[in-house]
Amino acid sequence: MSSQALLELDHVTKLFPIGGFFSRETMKAVDDVSFALSADKPEIFTIVGESGSGKSTLAKMILGSEKADRGCVRFDGADVKDVRSRNDREAFMAKVQPVFQNPFEAFNPLTRIDEYLLATAYRFKGAKSRAEKEALADVALQRVGLSMAEIKGRFSHELSGGQLQRVAVARALIPEPKLIVADEPVSMVDASLRMSIVNLFRDLRDALNVSIVYITHDLATAYYISDRVIIMRKGVVVESGNAREVLENPGQAYSIALKNAVLPPDPREASAIIRLRQQNAATDKADTRSQAVR
Ligand SMILES: Nc1ncnc2c1ncn2[C@@H]1O[C@H](COP(=O)(O)OP(=O)(O)O)[C@@H](O)[C@H]1O
Ligand SMILES: [Mg+2]
Repeated sequence: MSSQALLELDHVTKLFPIGGFFSRETMKAVDDVSFALSADKPEIFTIVGESGSGKSTLAKMILGSEKADRGCVRFDGADVKDVRSRNDREAFMAKVQPVFQNPFEAFNPLTRIDEYLLATAYRFKGAKSRAEKEALADVALQRVGLSMAEIKGRFSHELSGGQLQRVAVARALIPEPKLIVADEPVSMVDASLRMSIVNLFRDLRDALNVSIVYITHDLATAYYISDRVIIMRKGVVVESGNAREVLENPGQAYSIALKNAVLPPDPREASAIIRLRQQNAATDKADTRSQAVR
């Protein structure tokens, strides 16, 4: 590599114990994964895989909340395992910000959501006065198509999932991070709003030079916004490369199956799949009701 990478995963493996308390057996949630994001050119790097493929474990290792058992995660050239002191941790978190799946879990229902933004402005930007904090929050909110005026004094339940996820992205922007790790950020968001939120990531990449690790099981959004993708299965990277190339010409049986499941080739097939999903959702609901009755 000519210049130092922004983020580098070097043969990263994460083991979790399986079996009983006394069992020594382990499974590899993440199995020998390597990739690097350039520090020179921001990109949207997408990790695709079905549930259980190790995506969130990978995200946690990048964020430093899980430690790799083998291999190494480096950010700006430094091993994230060495980020220990409170000061180092704060500095690291200012540069690497998470966005999680469920915005309703990220915001306490009893706390006004603007308070989160003001607290973040204080914590990472040292803003002292209320006016100073509000100004920083407003800039971040405008970036995601909202404003302080719109959210001031409101609680999470007064916003839609899509709006709240925008607020979560705004909060992540306040420290001016170099990297955002977004773990399934739109899977709880209404399908009709998903694309507008993932498109935001593209705008942020271009306007703010922030790199994004976008994690999803949804190939449609991955296809539209990603520069590069890796496809994971059972902890292993089964395909990687330029997003269009990988998603248009999947080489592995698994990627082909994933693609066929989410990106139907023609509209008739798409509507058939949607009908099938609606039927499945209806039976799921009926199941839950009958379980509740029992
Ligand atoms: N803290 C944990 N303890 C034990 N097993 C875990 C833990 N976290 C994840 N796993 C297991 O690791 C595998 C990968 O999980 P995860 O990274 O959450 O996948 P994904 O985000 O792709 O759905 C799964 O089999 C999961 O059950
Ligand atoms: Mg996950």
